[in-house]
Amino acid sequence: MTGLRSTKPVTGASLGYDWSELVQEDRVHRLIYADPQIFAAEMSNIFGGIWVYIAHESEIPNANDFVTRRLGQRPMIVLRDSAGKLRALFNRCTHRGTTLTRAEKGNAKSFSCPYHGWNFLNTGQLRGVPWADGYACDFRDSTYNVAQAPRVESYRGFIFVTLNEKMPPLRDWLGGITKPIDEWLDRNPGGKVKVCEANRFKFKGNWKLAYDNSSDGYHVIYSHRSLIETEARFQDGPKGMSYYKNSPDSLDMYVKYTGNGHHFKDKRPNLEKRPGGLWAIESVHPGMEHVEEKFRRLYGARADSLLDLAGSEPVNINIFPNLSLLGNHIQVFEPVSVNETNAVWYGTMIEDETGELGEAVQDINALRMRTQEQFPNFGEVDDLANFEQIQRGLDCLEDEWVYMHRGLGIAGRIKHHPDGSITGPATDEVFMREYIAQWRRLMECDPDLTVTREIAP
Ligand code: FES
Ligand SMILES: [Fe+2]
Repeated sequence: MTGLRSTKPVTGASLGYDWSELVQEDRVHRLIYADPQIFAAEMSNIFGGIWVYIAHESEIPNANDFVTRRLGQRPMIVLRDSAGKLRALFNRCTHRGTTLTRAEKGNAKSFSCPYHGWNFLNTGQLRGVPWADGYACDFRDSTYNVAQAPRVESYRGFIFVTLNEKMPPLRDWLGGITKPIDEWLDRNPGGKVKVCEANRFKFKGNWKLAYDNSSDGYHVIYSHRSLIETEARFQDGPKGMSYYKNSPDSLDMYVKYTGNGHHFKDKRPNLEKRPGGLWAIESVHPGMEHVEEKFRRLYGARADSLLDLAGSEPVNINIFPNLSLLGNHIQVFEPVSVNETNAVWYGTMIEDETGELGEAVQDINALRMRTQEQFPNFGEVDDLANFEQIQRGLDCLEDEWVYMHRGLGIAGRIKHHPDGSITGPATDEVFMREYIAQWRRLMECDPDLTVTREIAP
């Protein structure tokens, strides 16, 4: 076969780059954000080659429920089959390749292809084709079943998929980031959230620009100045983002890298440790005064802890490569092309299965929804504008480097812990250096991605 071009998807190893030249200790090359070939390789090495968040179990609670999503650029149907098993099917008919469903969500025991009507059970198995006697093949052969991800696992409701059979179990891959995820969930009675509809943003920039920003405490006071000033006009006392105003590095908040690209920024140590301490820093959004007055009237001393449940948890928990838990939201980054990304903010409600919160849960969840009208509407746009302008700046071909060396080389500033985690002040770029080093290690590989068409029970 020498001399013939491979039909395998491009991988990082096949590109021929010196990855240690592109990713150095203090800087990265503009190409990692701007080269379409690198983006194409990321769709194998990262979005497919490792565990990637794809949907939440609460979006498909019942048998036969499905949602359509993407794994990198692959259209996917994430579903619970008729037996209740989670599956991630390629949204692609095995006949001539059209998508099997164009709906965003639904409930279906089977999918009939809109083109020629081949019908597939939601296990992926081909059930029948119109006028099968026109074919000489045996349609019982698994060749004709829908391709699906060989591995689908969930952690506390968060569903991840990979096409790489060699990946360790999801729980091991998440490692130390499970602790803040657990804490984020367990602050709610019952320890569960239900994912709701989303605020959908797009920006003309590379997906990593959003992940670079996900624990960036350095930009807040500059990029979000107008939002901070608005808060100050409407409300008394310091709010969440005002921590960054004066000398943020002397406060107790910190950024922590936990391995495999995952990291989080934790502002909780800055809070007053008392019921109502979280509510006290909640930024202005519609409905707050009304519910606060009602809760104080109805629930007396219990009102503070109930209001805290509507408050935005001051953490940014980032699970590489595409998921952030922040405040009351889940943000998902969807790469569209080398310079185009969707940033989707899903609201979350508390699932009060034991009824512990009584009628208060309705107001708490309504307030949690209305936090969508705060940062996502007024802060996210600041960030997206920056990402788009970075992508423009990166078109200066001869100006090659992007720096991420804040905190590097200052004795005692970055701390390495026995569990392998690394911490630094909240304005440090240490998380960026660590995750991009992980990105480099992943891009050096030639992962063997597979799909399955065998219908395991
Ligand atoms: S493309 Fe699906 S039945 Fe023809
Ligand atoms: Fe920001």
